[in-house]
Amino acid sequence: MRIVEGKKQRDLSPEAFADLASGFAGIALDLGTGDGSFVLRRARTEPGVLCIGLDAVAEAMAESARRARAKPAKGGAANALYVVARAEDLPSELAGRCDAITINYPWGSLLKAVSEPQQEVLAGIAACAKPGARVTLLINLAPFEDPDQRDRLGLNELDAELAEQRLGPAYLAAGLKIGKIDLHLGELPERTSWGRRLVVGSRRKTLEIKSQKSYI
Ligand SMILES: C[S@@+](CC[C@H](N)C(=O)[O-])C[C@H]1O[C@@H](n2cnc3c(N)ncnc32)[C@H](O)[C@@H]1O
Repeated sequence: MRIVEGKKQRDLSPEAFADLASGFAGIALDLGTGDGSFVLRRARTEPGVLCIGLDAVAEAMAESARRARAKPAKGGAANALYVVARAEDLPSELAGRCDAITINYPWGSLLKAVSEPQQEVLAGIAACAKPGARVTLLINLAPFEDPDQRDRLGLNELDAELAEQRLGPAYLAAGLKIGKIDLHLGELPERTSWGRRLVVGSRRKTLEIKSQKSYI
């Protein structure tokens, strides 16, 4: 897999990744991590967990990846790892390894993949989860409420009810059972950078979808 270390990138071999992961009690994966600050905060508070931020855009993760390499007293976290990859083509080293997966405020192809949903991409995401792992999504509903924006982005309608009706069976087919669906109005379940940008001081709705990877 391709990893980010500050402004530089390098390949981490499957063996080196397995070796790194073996030193931790679990793996938490944040897909479409953006600037990676959510992962860095989590890594600081959960030192026993390997916290992986993954995004298609390497540059956005550079600053968090640089900070993670500092000494713990200076805010560093050796358990934070930043990976450059697309959700459509996830590193095979992650297959069946993740104890928790988060997807916070996705946009572009990632938003389309989880909201339409695109079965193949969804199955690839689900394949990274261990049996019983939690997969949690936070989706900004604003683009779905505007017909023009929906058309432009090639999205169908989405709200809490449709999430259950339309996404439920598709997620189940990918091995993810949707449990609780919550609608947050102008409040943030997680203070991610984009969550703050989109929601704080607005009345934008965030749809929180909690699902769990099946045991079979
Ligand atoms: C609105 S930002 C959210 C970033 C972060 N999760 C947050 O809440 O601050 C959406 C992120 O999804 C990433 N993204 C979009 N499509 C993707 C894909 N197909 N694979 C991986 N990342 C993708 C973008 O590069 C961007 O960083």
